[in-house]
Amino acid sequence: MSEQDQSHVDRAAVQTAGGSCVGATIVGSGVAIPQTVLTNADLEKIIDTSDDWIRKRTGITQRRVAKRELGETTASLGTKALQAALDDAGMVPTDLDQLVVATITPDMPTPSAACQIASDIGAGNIGAFDLGAACSGFVFALNTVDALIRSGVAKNVGVVGADIITRHIDYSNRGRGTSILFGDAAGAFIVKGSDDPSRGVLARSMHTDGGRWPDLFIPRVDEDFPSDFDHEANAVELDCLHMNGRAVFKFAVSTFGDLIQETLDKVGLRPEDVDHYVCHQSNKRILDAARDRFGLPEEKVRVNIDRYGNTVAASVCLCFNELKTEGRIEPGQLVMFLGFGAGLTWGSSLWRL
Ligand code: UT7
Repeated sequence: MSEQDQSHVDRAAVQTAGGSCVGATIVGSGVAIPQTVLTNADLEKIIDTSDDWIRKRTGITQRRVAKRELGETTASLGTKALQAALDDAGMVPTDLDQLVVATITPDMPTPSAACQIASDIGAGNIGAFDLGAACSGFVFALNTVDALIRSGVAKNVGVVGADIITRHIDYSNRGRGTSILFGDAAGAFIVKGSDDPSRGVLARSMHTDGGRWPDLFIPRVDEDFPSDFDHEANAVELDCLHMNGRAVFKFAVSTFGDLIQETLDKVGLRPEDVDHYVCHQSNKRILDAARDRFGLPEEKVRVNIDRYGNTVAASVCLCFNELKTEGRIEPGQLVMFLGFGAGLTWGSSLWRL
């Protein structure tokens, strides 16, 4: 049997032989950031907006835009982020036995971004699939991966959050509610099975309210619009993201705080017991509202929306990677990951590192 065949057999054995790990640890993280910067000043030149308005209403000063001509695709950014996470973990692609990619913008409807990334990175014939939960995607993926590990399906898992949402943004005045907010990026974790049951997910929540999909959607054809859609008030280009900004803002402010409380209640913790709140970056005002509600100091709620905007499934990973690079992540810490977005979806994943 060739070395590669043997490796497939060994990894297949992980998926069938039971022997589940009782805990999980995040052993590596990495990111991939597109080269092109789009500043508020750049947007001022193409739409009716101002740097002052964007900063005050969102906290954003710039975002990144992926360019196909630079070879920046969802798969290439995801692969780069995953490789960085593997390097951080001191592992190689063939060490992985499962890959989960949170994305709503795979380069093609099929194959999945996960199939492309697994192949491009040289991970072999591992289980690889995409998970679509928009801005909650990475948090849903973390909960899924912890469960895969604890049930014995996998031991060394790559988790990627990658989106090129700017492909679906209308950069005319019609789209000024979204073009100011969104940017592209990818991030990745390596999660490894552990024999310490206190490590991994301590509490999780995953929610959806599918009835509210018209608040955030990308119509492909005219029939996709809800029957009561107000086309006069909201001119939307096909294949471009439509967002009812005010409604989503209200939803996010209340849901975000409730989600934190619900997650803490599941394990009887107080807000101050958590070392880091690593949140989806959708608007700085939404993060500030949650911080105020629980009286949390600034250093506990990471904000990097100023430099990247809202990067959909990548945002949570980008924040965690910054904390890790700054040496602020340590074993034993409690980290709450939080996401909310289109669907509508919202979820949390509280980890003991
Ligand atoms: O991750 C997915 C989840 N998404 C979110 O969480 C996004 C949540 N929503 C938001 O972050 C905010 O609603 C926005 C940043 C999108 C908009 O901020 P807002 O404070 O809700 O503004 P608004 O839509 O209520 O508009 C206020 C005013 C309006 O003018 P009038 O009617 O008061 O004269 C808008 O026409 O600001 C105007 N406006 C703008 N002005 C300059 C809207 N967009 C812009 C703009 N530049 N880009």
